[in-house]
Amino acid sequence: MRAIWFLCSILAIVTEGLRYKVDDREAVDPNDVPVTHLPVGAVHVSEAEWAQFLEENLEPDLAPWKVKAPLRADYVWNLKDDLYKRGGPLPGVWRVVLVWKNKLYWVERDHVQSVGSAPQDASDQIKSFGIRVTRWLTRGHLQLPDVLFMINVEDNRPRWCGPKQECVVPLISLGKTMDHEGNDTDILVPQLFFGDNTFYYHPWELKKDVAYFRGVPFCSGYWWNVSDTCLVACPRTYLAWRSDLDARTNRTPSYLDVGIVEPATLPWVNDTQGELYQKMKGCQPDSIPTVPRVGMWRHARYKYLLQLEGITFSCRLSQLLMTNSLVLFQRQPFVEYFYRSLRPWVHYVPFWTAKAHSRGDWNSLDDVYGVIDGLRRREQQDPKEVHRMVAAANAFATKFTTSYGRARYLKDALTAYKDLFPDMDQYLAQFVEGLKANGTWTSTGGQEPTS
Ligand SMILES: *[C@@H]1O[C@H](CO)[C@@H](O)[C@H](O)[C@H]1NC(C)=O
Ligand SMILES: *[C@@H]1O[C@H](CO)[C@@H](O)[C@H](O)[C@H]1NC(C)=O
Ligand SMILES: *[C@@H]1O[C@H](CO)[C@@H](O)[C@H](O)[C@H]1NC(C)=O
Ligand SMILES: *[C@@H]1O[C@H](CO)[C@@H](O)[C@H](O)[C@H]1NC(C)=O
Repeated sequence: MRAIWFLCSILAIVTEGLRYKVDDREAVDPNDVPVTHLPVGAVHVSEAEWAQFLEENLEPDLAPWKVKAPLRADYVWNLKDDLYKRGGPLPGVWRVVLVWKNKLYWVERDHVQSVGSAPQDASDQIKSFGIRVTRWLTRGHLQLPDVLFMINVEDNRPRWCGPKQECVVPLISLGKTMDHEGNDTDILVPQLFFGDNTFYYHPWELKKDVAYFRGVPFCSGYWWNVSDTCLVACPRTYLAWRSDLDARTNRTPSYLDVGIVEPATLPWVNDTQGELYQKMKGCQPDSIPTVPRVGMWRHARYKYLLQLEGITFSCRLSQLLMTNSLVLFQRQPFVEYFYRSLRPWVHYVPFWTAKAHSRGDWNSLDDVYGVIDGLRRREQQDPKEVHRMVAAANAFATKFTTSYGRARYLKDALTAYKDLFPDMDQYLAQFVEGLKANGTWTSTGGQEPTS
């Protein structure tokens, strides 16, 4: 199953509002209290907290490479050749990036394609990376070392540098898989496409007491062979079906408000025979209605927010943590740069006991009901407990996932990556010299780019 640049299956964000029709009308009832939007400014993180954050996230990414170091800088091109051979040329999502004298260059082996902004054929995620990093660099918010790396904004479901692959140098990715088969060897950096620095607040006692989700029915295909009829369980479509079934049968009290915003036909998967679709359909026998897309702020109106896998990781998590609602996190093997610092029952509540690739039972897909029952009981006994988790999640997300944390992490990750290559500076000096000598240092001719 190959999914190309549909990464970060999230709809509830400002950028997508431009492209899709988002149902963004505020409360119809004029007495309804509007959601408060709070922009986040400068963030203070102590050195000790930051060091611990790196220890929990960056260090495990570096560990397999420290064993292999010293690495060779020119092998970045070998990694590119290797991936292009295995996955086909995917210039939209795979790019070689050069940072040189604090400027970004999008490079091929023998020429510079563009400076600052990514080339036209790059995906939106790559373009956004180029725009935001260049803005940070030119405004003096960020200093990066001279370095050459290959960035991957693909969903990474094929596990391009997974335990069964021999990547010669680290792939710099936005997400990867860590499971019983082993850990992908990618070094993670933050995605810079989705999300903004806004916190959404709504008084807890006004929130609807259900678990909420709106999204594209992406699916990893990871949970297969659940039962004879449910061959591929997709959390988004499965829970949307349960939610609809509950509504049709007037289940009381209600638990879920889960809706998919596109038909569940897996159009992003190369499933020409409809094979995967049939396997997945067996888990939710009725057709599922589609509902309008909504803005992220609207999520603050619900007590519980479901974090469900996309094709792999879903970038919505950091945004959900920036509301004063409680995140219910579907267990999954997919991680972004910050997940390994999150603790169950500290920052979020876990659910989904389905096992990968093996027989479970239907209860393993339905445990969210029991989790919500438990939370309702706990809240009655000690309302402070839920609020402690929400506060911890909010503090975490503000420190480590707003622009400040993303820029700082990018710098630390690329600096540590560079340290694996003792010949990096020497190679880059030679490489840039060669491009200049050949008149290919810019896409337009031999001038030192100024933009
Ligand atoms: C410069 O051109 C020469 C001759 O075509 C080629 O061998 C070399 O690889 C080029 N160098 C770079 C960095 O593009
Ligand atoms: C994968 O990573 C986890 C967490 O860092 C670690 O506990 C585990 O030992 C790793 N697995 C392998 C096979 O290296
Ligand atoms: C699915 O599970 C059944 C029952 O455990 C097993 O017999 C079958 O081989 C499994 N199928 C696959 C494709 O692993
Ligand atoms: C899609 O699947 C068909 C049939 O399995 C295959 O021939 C084709 O190469 C695939 N296309 C892509 C883009 O992977």
